[in-house]
Amino acid sequence: MARDAGAVRGDPLTFLTDVSRRYGDLVSFPVPGLPTLLVGDAEGARHVLQTAGRGWTKQTVQYAALRQVTGPGLLASAEPSWLTHRRAAAPAFHHQGLAAVSEQVTAAVDEAVRAELPAPGEPDRVVDVAALMSRIALDAVGRALFSADLTGHATELLQATSRSADLVVRLGRSMLPAIVWAPTPARVRLRSTRRRLERITAEVIAERRSLGAAAPGGAAPGGAAGSYGDDLLGLLLASGMPDQQIHDELVTMVVAGHETVAGSLSWTLMLLAEHEEHQDRTYAELADLPTPVRLHDPRSRAPWTRAVLDEALRLYPPGWVLSRRAQHDDVVAGVPVPAGTLAIVSPWLIHRRADLWPDPEAFRPERFLQEGAGRRGYLPFGLGARLCIGRDFALGEMAVVLARLLRTHRVGLTPGWCRPEPLPRLTVQPRGGMPLIVGARRDA
Ligand code: HEM
Repeated sequence: MARDAGAVRGDPLTFLTDVSRRYGDLVSFPVPGLPTLLVGDAEGARHVLQTAGRGWTKQTVQYAALRQVTGPGLLASAEPSWLTHRRAAAPAFHHQGLAAVSEQVTAAVDEAVRAELPAPGEPDRVVDVAALMSRIALDAVGRALFSADLTGHATELLQATSRSADLVVRLGRSMLPAIVWAPTPARVRLRSTRRRLERITAEVIAERRSLGAAAPGGAAPGGAAGSYGDDLLGLLLASGMPDQQIHDELVTMVVAGHETVAGSLSWTLMLLAEHEEHQDRTYAELADLPTPVRLHDPRSRAPWTRAVLDEALRLYPPGWVLSRRAQHDDVVAGVPVPAGTLAIVSPWLIHRRADLWPDPEAFRPERFLQEGAGRRGYLPFGLGARLCIGRDFALGEMAVVLARLLRTHRVGLTPGWCRPEPLPRLTVQPRGGMPLIVGARRDA
């Protein structure tokens, strides 16, 4: 087991894959005080996350570590009050709420494309698309959910979230609940990172409050929805939530909605660079859409592009493991587990099961054009009551980014191309970035 613990820390994805190959899709680790079940099975995942969802909580070491950064925000909260917060935030993610998002995301990509990619006539250049996508995703979250320009804080926010991700992963992997609470150097650094984030969100909240108060009729906490604006920040302020909780939700959205989208877009662009024929088909579909591409407009539906995104999320699900703790004794897909068991549900493993996904390592977007194919074992956004609240936002945002980028530019592989290794931190990121050749289209 000691060797296994070392392997988990060194190369967790290979470790997970080896364990499930050797011992099956449901593996019990009878660790004293922390019985653990690795779930690489679609039925088991559905049971833990959905069917028996309320019997399995987020009271886990991994989520306790994340709460050190986000507090009990929507993602990390293990309390029943989570539902009140989810209801307050939900309208910002409904279709109506998403109507304005296309323009804001397009503006974020436009700016980045103009500043960082070659213009027509300029030579192709190598671009770290992971860094580019990270800046775009942060800008898009700020504009779309808080109507705030976060770019002025970009460096600080990116450093803080990336540092938090490292520290959360380190604390989460320690497996021992006591370590999460001990004043270790990692925890002390986390606290200072949290203070930096608090400073930034306090500014964003104060700015909106002053604008709200200046609006005709003023606006007070608990006032009518919309009096502070219809975006997420406006809804939270109008709900009368205390500032500390609003802060937790803002940090949660930056953490949950930034690295996930940036990583997914980076892997998607890599897969399209590797498969020129798929890139050509994506370009052909996107080039035909009305400009600008609007998420909420049915004429802007792009089934092939959606299939490309779905397939990239199958191969590189940002949430590679999801943790839960059993409140009672239970039976997961035939395996009895005692109360207190930690379930590690792994979309990474489930998405690579050959019985659900023939030739699982291959990038084949066409799988998703067939009704129902493999869906039983597809959970990039989780399942059940804790399903990602940002799913439609993220899928729409990614389609708009691809549309804006691929209509004017092509991506290709660098000479002597070697795929970046997937680095499983809080989400799966390309180790060392994602350098691709980017060139302006002559026909754009
Ligand atoms: C929850 C994946 C984008 C906000 C989740 C969960 C997954 C996930 C797997 C469930 C975690 C669990 O059950 O333990 C993704 C992926 C994304 C993405 C793959 C993009 C490709 C976003 C965006 C936002 C967001 C853009 C917001 C701006 C959240 C929140 C939760 C969540 C708040 C917690 C919801 C709750 O428990 O009620 N996400 N996410 N996510 N996600 Fe996302």
